[in-house]
Amino acid sequence: MSKELDAIFRPRSIAVVGASKKKGKIGREIIHNLIEGEFEGKVFPINPKADVIHSIKCYKSLLDAPDEIDLAVIVVPKESVMDVMKECKEKGVKGVVLITAGYKETGEEGAKREEELKRFVRSAGILLVGPNCMGVLNTDPDVKMNTTFASAKALPGKTLFISQSGALGQAIIDYSREVNIGLSKFASLGNRADVSVNDVLNYCADDPNVELILLYLESFGNPRNFIKIARELSRRKPIIAVKSGRTAAGARAAVSHTGSLAGLDVAVDALFEQCGVLRASTIEELFDLAKGFAEQPLPKGNRVAILTNAGGPAILATDALAARGMQIAPFSAQTRDQLREILSPEASATNPVDMTGSSTALQYKQCMDVILSDENVDSLLVIFVPPIFLHTREVAAAIAEGKRQNPGKPILACFMTGEQDEEGGIDLLNESKIPNYVYPESAAIALSGLEKYCQWCRRPAGTIPHFEVNRDAVSEIFARCAKEGRKFLTILEAQEVFQAYGIKVVPSKRVETREDALSFADVHDFPLVLKIVSSTISHKSDRGGVILDIREESGLLQALKLLKSRFRPAEIDTLLVQKMIKGGKETIIGMTQDPTFGPLMMFGLGGIYVEVLKDVSFRIHPVTDVDADEMIRSIRGYPLLTGIRGEEPVNINELKDAILRISQLVGDFHQIGSLEVNPFIVSPPAGPCSCAVDTRIILT
Ligand code: COA
Repeated sequence: MSKELDAIFRPRSIAVVGASKKKGKIGREIIHNLIEGEFEGKVFPINPKADVIHSIKCYKSLLDAPDEIDLAVIVVPKESVMDVMKECKEKGVKGVVLITAGYKETGEEGAKREEELKRFVRSAGILLVGPNCMGVLNTDPDVKMNTTFASAKALPGKTLFISQSGALGQAIIDYSREVNIGLSKFASLGNRADVSVNDVLNYCADDPNVELILLYLESFGNPRNFIKIARELSRRKPIIAVKSGRTAAGARAAVSHTGSLAGLDVAVDALFEQCGVLRASTIEELFDLAKGFAEQPLPKGNRVAILTNAGGPAILATDALAARGMQIAPFSAQTRDQLREILSPEASATNPVDMTGSSTALQYKQCMDVILSDENVDSLLVIFVPPIFLHTREVAAAIAEGKRQNPGKPILACFMTGEQDEEGGIDLLNESKIPNYVYPESAAIALSGLEKYCQWCRRPAGTIPHFEVNRDAVSEIFARCAKEGRKFLTILEAQEVFQAYGIKVVPSKRVETREDALSFADVHDFPLVLKIVSSTISHKSDRGGVILDIREESGLLQALKLLKSRFRPAEIDTLLVQKMIKGGKETIIGMTQDPTFGPLMMFGLGGIYVEVLKDVSFRIHPVTDVDADEMIRSIRGYPLLTGIRGEEPVNINELKDAILRISQLVGDFHQIGSLEVNPFIVSPPAGPCSCAVDTRIILT
């Protein structure tokens, strides 16, 4: 574990500057939490007006503290913060947690104040958490530090929680206790002027006391660094995140399909997918997932068994599991026979196992033993709706015993007891480390989260291939555009760019005269396509600007006449004759710049329906071979590419190759603002080579 953040998470001495005697004041609560939590180091309250705070000697200034100070927690008004910071420097304080608000979050003045603070700590070599934060805590038995002012006490455990929101901190600590998630460390990072989420992740990467990582994020400071860290870390420690807020990706680039399709929160989803972070949509879902991960073995696959004493909740669970791609485990014949011997004749011995309302605690235990021994079962959900004659504690004890004897597979419980469980069954489940859910759907979310995580761990890391390309040819085209002050490449220039990067493009020629068109027809066989190229009309098929399947010279000349009569000269940049590509499937490959995440690559089913179907996938650039594969496989229409109803499958490798080559192009030329190949026609392996038909490149 890197030692750098030890000053923040493992200080040997803490000064609270702005400590107070007055109950309810932040400076008082922090001292109280440090003392009550039995911090293993020394505590020094600092306040010019007090001699003693919380029965501890108080010092007038940091400089009066008799010992070295590792960490200063600062709770003084913003006007006094810089004076205290200077004292920190003089005293040799290594880390600061700055609770005080009134910085970047308040506007321009505050942002300036924060900039000054940041410059100061960087030059003084002080690590700063905050400002505008709630503090940090570390429950490790050799530290036991709580510098937050939360009234709730965290349960010790193996989870790291990093929160950008301080205000949520109190609720998070409270809630984690309620749902029995023990925290190893909690860090509310506030405005993140200095110490970032990435820094804390790095710090805890090899911490044996951290086995699960939960994040509440509002924005990303350095998403590329986050990808790098999380991609590696998530294979060892599950990371679950709630990301609030939406990005405005693509809003600026809405001129292209890629831009308009990227307008949702897709960059964040793509980022999490690429680094194995599970995304929760709410704090509640975050904890539902976290409960599933905490102190449970990981499942070997997606086959779930359900054991219940009521049919309804089992149906709800089945539906919720199926909707998330989970399988209801098919039991072996032996399992079914053994279950029949245990259960009453009215009960169902197939999965879900409905023992009926008259089942006993003993039957729960016996069925668990049988089900968990079946090799077709990867995990178990036990549902219990308490009837009058059976106590929750009895059933919980049976399940706990079942778990003790079958420790290899995850077991989740759903005790539908309502708010109160006076019999203490849920407490017993908590003590036995069996996560309990109020609703079966929440348990289903947790089980599918476990499976998704396991899939991530099995996924190969992937590589970024390097292709031999003609980079100089592209540089020349871009230089010419820059010299002419043009941002839009002509379609033929864009084609040249893609060709230089090894992507086959459909043979095309600019047409001004009849002779241009006829000479193209001499070289390339019919059928041909004649289309307009226009910088003002983006959906040219809708306006009759594309004439397909021209089969002879007379048809070509007629089409030429028609297009010239259909559009005003100002609407047409040029006319283009192209070879007509028959067969294959239309796809789209694009890139748009996200203001936070940089280039965002897109793949989907292309052609004129792309914006209606929105069947697209995104990845943050650069994409690996595994990412490219996943981009292709994750669209809903993927079966259309693999061949349905006797159709031939298309050449997925050519598609993958094109995505990776375009990714290399984007990496080589940062001046590309957006690009798009729509359609990229992908052919069956035995058919003609797949190729780009319409292309567009816009420079920044
Ligand atoms: N050195 C030591 N103590 C100092 C000091 C200094 N330079 N300047 C002031 N103090 C003492 C004060 O005397 C006072 O002690 P007292 O309670 O014994 O009178 C104490 O520090 C606090 O100062 P006070 O002026 O009473 O401020 P406050 O407690 O009303 O507010 C903050 C201070 C930091 C809490 C407030 O400015 C603030 O930022 N509040 C928002 C905090 C927040 O929400 N953070 C984000 C959480 S998510």
